[in-house]
Amino acid sequence: MSTPKLKAPRGTHDVLPEQAAARARVEAAARAILEGAGYERIETPAFEATELFARGVGASTDIVQKEMYTFADGSGRSLTLRPEGTAPVCRAYVEHGMHKLRQPVKLWYLSSFFRYERAQAGRQRQFWQVGAEALGSSAPAVDAESIVLLAGLLRELGVAGLRLRLSSLGSRASRAEYGERLRAHLHAHADELASEVRERIDLNPLRAFDSEHAGTRTVMVSAPRLLDFLDREDAAHFAEVRALLDEAEVAYEVDTTLVRGLDYYTRTVFEFTSQELGAQSGVGGGGRYDGLVEQLGGPATPGMGWAAGIERILLAGQQPAAASPAIDLYVAFEQDGRPEGSGARLAFGVLHAARSAGLTAQMELAGRSLKNQLGHANRLGARYVAIVGAGETTLKDMQGGAQETIATDTIVHAVLRGLRDL
Ligand code: HAM
Repeated sequence: MSTPKLKAPRGTHDVLPEQAAARARVEAAARAILEGAGYERIETPAFEATELFARGVGASTDIVQKEMYTFADGSGRSLTLRPEGTAPVCRAYVEHGMHKLRQPVKLWYLSSFFRYERAQAGRQRQFWQVGAEALGSSAPAVDAESIVLLAGLLRELGVAGLRLRLSSLGSRASRAEYGERLRAHLHAHADELASEVRERIDLNPLRAFDSEHAGTRTVMVSAPRLLDFLDREDAAHFAEVRALLDEAEVAYEVDTTLVRGLDYYTRTVFEFTSQELGAQSGVGGGGRYDGLVEQLGGPATPGMGWAAGIERILLAGQQPAAASPAIDLYVAFEQDGRPEGSGARLAFGVLHAARSAGLTAQMELAGRSLKNQLGHANRLGARYVAIVGAGETTLKDMQGGAQETIATDTIVHAVLRGLRDL
């Protein structure tokens, strides 16, 4: 009986070496753009107390109701694999007293997150996000800067077919008043709604804007719009964010039906979508969350941020051809058939000396014939190949084709000189 093969769980995937270069490029671009704007890297734990997300993300959201990987640890504490990064960053801000630092505190992360969702292309159960959070300032310029930075990152990574949707949810108070009006509208048209929308009228009426159901969509056309309920300050804040985006020449559409799947948002919300991504078109999104830090036990602190999915950026972006870095030296040797063979020992010594001198080097590890070692070195893009012998070594210049026989203990010196003279 053969042993069954194991596979990675549904909705997860391996990042294979050939995909690593594209990811490294996303990370390098994010670092350059965000650190250039004063954001500093933070990493929070992969799991947190379940209560953080119940309180932070919102008990009525899909994430908390059905998508969390929650488990009890050995001592019975309820823990949850992080489904998102904003609540953990706010928890860290409070826990480390970051309100005492100069504000705003700007933090970025690139980490994996976990949601039990229906897996499909661009929707994973373990996925990666790059995110940026600015805590401690309610200035509209923070909102605009944050959005402009994500626009710049997506542009830099060649994400095609981009659209930016923008709205404002106002304060909790204006949203509460609006919620009542929206509920009344939905109750008045309850018969025309999809059953899952009808069941959630009282719990989360805004989600009705998300429905694909034809009857629901018709009802929503005449539904009251949140933007008409903003108070004077929220309306002025939104107008300023829009003016700043115009200033930065970032195109957007005001979309009053924009709903985000997390409860902490106040004022600005936005989402970038890409036409390149079928159904899962959201590449990145975020908004302002002025009450969240306080809700997690910290001082009243405004916040603004976003996260973008790495898998979706890669699906919608342009991938440069993968090129593995060439090496300076390949150390080859004549096989003498003994595992403790003197050829292998000599080669290992040369390899070590080469690396100590700062060269990139590899040695033969697979028992190939000399001819095949040369072919392998060629595929690796080695600049020099040393075929080592007891006293003498043949050093081959793979670019120019020249070959010389020199004392084994002078190889590293010869390669260094050759590279310098290029
Ligand atoms: P989110 O919209 O839930 O926001 O996720 C942000 C991005 O993560 C999405 O636009 C998408 O690209 C990616 N994403 C989400 N779920 C999945 C999945 N199952 N598979 C693959 N990619 C996915 C947040 O998470 C907020 N924390 C953003 C934020 C930061 N708001 C303020 N600050």
